Amino acid sequence: MPRVIPTEETGRIELAELVEALNRESFDPADEESFAAMAPMLKRLANNRDFLAEIAVAELKDRCTRQSLENRYSAQVIMLHRASEKYFIRANFWPSERDSVLRHSGTSPFFYHVPHDHNFSFLTVGYLGPGYWSEYYEYDFDEVVGLPGEKVDLRFVEKSRLDPGKVMLYRAHLDVHNQLPADDMSVSVNIMEASNRLPFINQYRFDVAKCEIAGILTRTATEALLALAANHDGGNSRDLVESFAASHPCDRIRFAAIRELAESADDFDAAAETLARGAGSANALVAGMSRIELARLEANRGWIEG
Ligand SMILES: [Fe+2]
Repeated sequence: MPRVIPTEETGRIELAELVEALNRESFDPADEESFAAMAPMLKRLANNRDFLAEIAVAELKDRCTRQSLENRYSAQVIMLHRASEKYFIRANFWPSERDSVLRHSGTSPFFYHVPHDHNFSFLTVGYLGPGYWSEYYEYDFDEVVGLPGEKVDLRFVEKSRLDPGKVMLYRAHLDVHNQLPADDMSVSVNIMEASNRLPFINQYRFDVAKCEIAGILTRTATEALLALAANHDGGNSRDLVESFAASHPCDRIRFAAIRELAESADDFDAAAETLARGAGSANALVAGMSRIELARLEANRGWIEG
């Protein structure tokens, strides 16, 4: 369960004042207490009932130029500030089941009914509406390899809502939630931890009914480009994929390189041999994922060779 941080702040601040506080050297989003100490400031920003509408109007007047440049999310998110390697600030819209955007787009663009953890910490406040619901769990990240179907000790904590003005700190690799639609359109404002290392640390999707890892949500451009490089005969692109498979510091990327080498192999036996080498890795994720991929390949042997 994310850490609920009680705050009785009644004053209001502008977004720039929050940014100024976050830009101080002493703020470290990777440190739980440092992050939690920003709760009163976030609450004061939430007490400002005008700033978000003013930003939205300014963005619309500018044809959302800044959003196009800085916002890597869907239209669910307004990026409010992004100028630091350490953090960014965003507003999230949480439609209810009655809202046309949910009826027409479905629940997946809003990450509803997709139980997951986060590979970053974030501080959030309910800004508008009754707030989204979540079923909260906790788990031990260090006990998990990350293989699909792997059993996880998921501990249910409670179902609750991000009520207006409630401030919560979601802790990376600990808090899991199954997010459910708000009863009415709601908005939250988040301070998000940012770091160049995050793409290399796994964020998981869970099957909470089975208490299993359902998959890894983290994707990077590297993994997509490995597929292209493995199939490209020119230059030394296959050498590059082989070197990633052998020694990239991220085990998920090492496995992706092995998988793409196998996918692009000349024949079934070469593909199976590549995956068998991966299955012999001393790293549990690389070995386990390679075993799963090898089993999938073997199951399709007749189809591939026929
Ligand atoms: Fe989440």
